[in-house]
Amino acid sequence: MAFVNKKVKVAAPATVANLVCGFDILGLCLHDPYDIMEVELLNEKKVIVKSADGYPLPEDPALNTAGAPLLEMLKEVEDNIGFSVLIHKRIKPGSGVGSSAASAAGAVVAANHLLDNRFTKDELVQFAMFGEKVASGVKHADNVTPCIFGGVTLIRSIFPLDIVPLSSPPLYVTVVHPQIEVRTADARAILKQKVLLKDAIKQWGNIAGLVAGFLKNDYDLIGRSLEDYLVEPVRSILIPGFDDLKKACKAAGALGGGISGSGPSIFMLSKEESTAKEVEKVMQQCYTQLGIDFHTYLTTINTGGVKILD
Ligand code: HSE
Repeated sequence: MAFVNKKVKVAAPATVANLVCGFDILGLCLHDPYDIMEVELLNEKKVIVKSADGYPLPEDPALNTAGAPLLEMLKEVEDNIGFSVLIHKRIKPGSGVGSSAASAAGAVVAANHLLDNRFTKDELVQFAMFGEKVASGVKHADNVTPCIFGGVTLIRSIFPLDIVPLSSPPLYVTVVHPQIEVRTADARAILKQKVLLKDAIKQWGNIAGLVAGFLKNDYDLIGRSLEDYLVEPVRSILIPGFDDLKKACKAAGALGGGISGSGPSIFMLSKEESTAKEVEKVMQQCYTQLGIDFHTYLTTINTGGVKILD
């Protein structure tokens, strides 16, 4: 079969997984930061992944977050083709804003474009989850799904895959990334495997409240629901200044927020841009006082997901 396009460039955006109360089941897509990925069709069954910035990547594609999903995709393709991927990494690995997911999702969306979009978005999520397995040892879809679908997404189940895209009111998202690395695998290893029923009741109240808040454009309900009784209390010990920063951001007017994915980034949602700017200042002051280097991003929800550039 002849393919029309031989090469494509995509922007693969960062994502915020969990949305505080929805561990492994909720996520949203950001406009900033994003990786740039160039994917080229090869005329043999193989996958090559290279870094454009000298960032060290595993040579074996099966051990690479972009390579593993493409190898899975090739198993479903009869044609004698493969892919070469060049990654311009702008989302720092271990930052908590879906760096591995951006590589995985960007690779499969780009490859699918070169294959004349023969796979559905759900199938792309299935492939991309193999990248998350390489990165953290576990297939979770709460970064790759919003990265591929855009917007806010609920992953009701991964086996079988059941994705529910959610509408949302306009929101500003402020993110601070303290320059320390937290590996998702480590941040998962410290979690308790059992929860108390009284905590679970509060948690599922918040998840339902958050989903209802997005669908009803109810900013107050979104804010009230951004509390986590199960995961954040354990993980927050990995993030210097977390509790004080969260309190100060809410005092500055943020609706709420918390750990982005497995951290160390922290995100806050705001209704107004002016509030989001104040929240950014609070974040900057906090980490300046603690003497920890940081980056901040002030962005909005990206409803498009991975974008084909040319
Ligand atoms: N749900 C995953 C976790 C997201 O919290 O471990 C990782 O980005």
